[in-house]
Amino acid sequence: MKKIELKTSYELYRDKSELLAEDLDLINRAFEETKKSYAPYSKFNVGCVLLLENGKIVTGSNQENAAYPSGMCAERVAIWKASSEYPAVAVLKLAIAVHSKNNVVDEPIGPCGGCRQTLSEYEVNQKKPIELLFTGEKGPVIKTKSLLDLLPLSFNRDYL
Ligand code: THU
Repeated sequence: MKKIELKTSYELYRDKSELLAEDLDLINRAFEETKKSYAPYSKFNVGCVLLLENGKIVTGSNQENAAYPSGMCAERVAIWKASSEYPAVAVLKLAIAVHSKNNVVDEPIGPCGGCRQTLSEYEVNQKKPIELLFTGEKGPVIKTKSLLDLLPLSFNRDYL
């Protein structure tokens, strides 16, 4: 038996003013997107913004449904929009912001497991890392250099 240790890292920005101007812009746009969220059940509004290699910006927000599992997360809405509108154009950056009507979210909220798996499909396919930025409505921002930093030992097309 051999014990393998996995190592990952991320950047923590205590204040948004420390961010690159481009990253701050994406985070601000993600906040704007939370206003378009349809989340009458959770009241947890999520906004997501993608920067594509062709310079285009694609956005998404979570869309809930009275039949709960039929709703969808902001990240998947955004990545599927991007892939259908601009097939085969790489995604360079993805920013996520949240606004809850129930409480003040003061810590960075990362993508759920299902979104990580969905996003990993596109990162693996494009052979280029997707940088992720995420934040609460106040407090620090987390930045990772790659989606796969958040999903070690993930399942991918190589196994099929
Ligand atoms: N949600 C997202 O949009 N992204 C995530 O990564 C986690 C959760 C949404 C789904 C649902 O509308 C609400 O947040 C509460 O789970």
